[in-house]
Amino acid sequence: MVEETKELIPVMTSGNNLQNYEEAYASFKWEDAEKEFTWYTTGKVNMAYEAIDRHVDEGRGDKTALLFSDATREESYTFAQMKALSNKFGNVLRSLGIGKGDRVFIFMPRSPELYMSYAGAVKIGAIVGPLFEAFMEAAVKDRLQDAEAVAIVTTPKLKERIPLAELPALKHVILVGSEGELGERELSFEKLMAEASDQLEIEWVDREDGLQLHYTSGSTGKPKGVLHVHNAMIQHLQTGKWVLDLKQDDVYWCTADPGWVTGTVYGMWSPWLNGVTTVIRGGRFSPDDWYQTIEKYRVTVWYSAPTAFRMLMGAGDDLVKKYDLSSLRHVLSVGEPLNAEVVRWGLKVYGKRIHDNWWMTETGGQLISNYPSMEIKPGSMGKPFPGIYAAIVDDQGNELPPYRMGNLAIRAPWPSMMRQIWKNPAKYEEYFRLKPWYISGDSAYKDEDGYFWFQGRVDDVINTSGERVGPFEVESKLVEHPAVAEAGVIGKPDPLRGEIIKAFIALRDGYQPSEELIKDIQEFVKKGLAAHAAPREIEFRDKLPKTRSGKIMRRVLKAWELGLPTGDLSTMED
Ligand code: WTA
Repeated sequence: MVEETKELIPVMTSGNNLQNYEEAYASFKWEDAEKEFTWYTTGKVNMAYEAIDRHVDEGRGDKTALLFSDATREESYTFAQMKALSNKFGNVLRSLGIGKGDRVFIFMPRSPELYMSYAGAVKIGAIVGPLFEAFMEAAVKDRLQDAEAVAIVTTPKLKERIPLAELPALKHVILVGSEGELGERELSFEKLMAEASDQLEIEWVDREDGLQLHYTSGSTGKPKGVLHVHNAMIQHLQTGKWVLDLKQDDVYWCTADPGWVTGTVYGMWSPWLNGVTTVIRGGRFSPDDWYQTIEKYRVTVWYSAPTAFRMLMGAGDDLVKKYDLSSLRHVLSVGEPLNAEVVRWGLKVYGKRIHDNWWMTETGGQLISNYPSMEIKPGSMGKPFPGIYAAIVDDQGNELPPYRMGNLAIRAPWPSMMRQIWKNPAKYEEYFRLKPWYISGDSAYKDEDGYFWFQGRVDDVINTSGERVGPFEVESKLVEHPAVAEAGVIGKPDPLRGEIIKAFIALRDGYQPSEELIKDIQEFVKKGLAAHAAPREIEFRDKLPKTRSGKIMRRVLKAWELGLPTGDLSTMED
């Protein structure tokens, strides 16, 4: 997917926070970053304190923390206001008997209330589980059940997707913007907030206590709950300095939704730990709105994703000229391979280098990156962050020399590394089966200059528009459709979205393939699971390739799709 080029794009900015990468790589220690936190001297730890209250205590309370806009609202909040509002929400949760270690979920579109709830829950030591607003009932239920969530903050529209009868542990449904009668277990966010005090005793926690739980997909089984702890703030602060290159006057915009890890770590924690103003835009992607957002807020640092850049490229060069984007200083991308072509295009139309970087939900923070003070090789993810040792290893854990493709591995641990797969220690251990390595599941190689080049996934996980989708979750939903006997799901390469979801389906007796049936099955997954998880392509087959133990062989489906040899079929059923 990534083309290696010999070209080098030179450094374009001076005065970057990280002046000399090689020097920092040789000398930096994570303990250096610890000294920046108040707990280094006070011993009192809480992520939300460092990200919000600290700025108020140190005289920066009047600075803007959040610039929010969507189709109907345009609001701005200072750090002092965020402190007071998150305090209120912390008190709301406490008054409901919620405290340290309890799981509180947040399921709503981007809004200021989302951020005050998030920070408020963290202040009382609760573990926050954010859910992407596009999730439908089955996806919502699986995650809330697995985490045994005790409360959820949501909206009247989205609450319809929360099956209370199947969620006995979920005691409180806190509704933002409710009108009229409240139902079973329901409470009004606005009413509770109005009654709550804005003074709060923060819950001081251990650095290893739970902070947030991000559900993500693997190739087998249901989504797994990736637990991050307060200690991650060390990495969030330092990568904000050196990768995002954040400075005090920056206006920073991360386009990711907080339902995904980029939207929490780099949409909220990292900029706020650095005391920087964050732009949050609600609503769907639209090239005009996006450029307008940069122009209106004079955004200086912009963090987005390859599919978005490809869509902006598709929207044309002339559109760029309609807007004043001269405020931009630093542009970044994450989540999927960033084509060299897009980097070249960015240089042409924005006059900026797009800095690719690599990490995963499990890693809790950026690990490999292009830095403003380093030459970029378009198509490469860059080099390991100081304090991180990355390598390419074979299936026994031996390091491979340059240009050999293998498993992208990181020497464990690092500050923001996940600390648990919720209630599933076996799954957690799988990542660390080749000690001392964390095995990412990505394949890559390293070149002679130490740049890393992404090659693909080693498992069946699908990355569509930067969103990670597990084939098992989609297949499980598909076979619930009355016409579907068997289903196998793969990622099919796509020039715009990186991959699209394609399903191979064997129908039950009495059903015939048709366009209507395809639409019906697609709708079924959209309504039952999530729009982004619905297959864009469906192909009917009389039979699907299976192992003798009955497992669908996605590898063979992929080979069919790509017209490649099917490889070893000795385990196939007949
Ligand atoms: C992929 C998102 C190529 C990769 C932060 C990884 C990338 C998965 C890049 C994690 C990149 C992420 N180039 N591929 N720069 N960044 N990926 O958990 O396959 O949603 O394993 O975390 O996205 O996706 P996740």
